[in-house]
Amino acid sequence: MKSIFIYYSLSGNGDLVASSLSDKGIDIRPVRLKKPMPKAFFLQIMKGGFLAGTGNRAKLDGFDPDVSGYDRVVIGSPIWNGRIVPAINTVLDTVDLAGKEVVFILTSGGGSAPKAEERLKSSFPGARIIMLKQPKNNEDELSKLDF
Ligand SMILES: Cc1cc2nc3c(=O)[nH]c(=O)nc-3n(C[C@H](O)[C@H](O)[C@H](O)COP(=O)(O)O)c2cc1C
Repeated sequence: MKSIFIYYSLSGNGDLVASSLSDKGIDIRPVRLKKPMPKAFFLQIMKGGFLAGTGNRAKLDGFDPDVSGYDRVVIGSPIWNGRIVPAINTVLDTVDLAGKEVVFILTSGGGSAPKAEERLKSSFPGARIIMLKQPKNNEDELSKLDF
């Protein structure tokens, strides 16, 4: 089964997931913002928390939405303010997931995100959701990536 991991990462947890999935033979496609997030954590929380909370769609820098060559599409998002991030909202608007096996990998500080999970379950019934608690600090969490 040919798989791709499409993900956004601000502080490296998603990158760690990407490198683990790459070792398992999964193609990797990082998503970058046209307008980068601020460097200061406080400003990240203010801006990211607000935009995620309002369901914002971010403008992406050169994103290729074509997944026609893949059977399985794995989508990675951090949790901001209980939700998936604006960059991944845009990915979900643009990528045609019809007929694909879909898996979400969510990373968060607390290890749970009921609002994000509910939204994804209702928009993508049948998709699997894997929740990881800060894998940069807890590498054991990567064992949940049982692909
Ligand atoms: C703007 C912002 C909002 C966040 N909101 C939450 C949250 O609501 N719940 C939570 O558990 N973690 C929250 N976090 C922590 C991130 O979800 C966590 O650090 C995640 O693993 C980051 O992934 P990354 O390193 O790939 O960017 C937030 C982080 C940021 C920057």
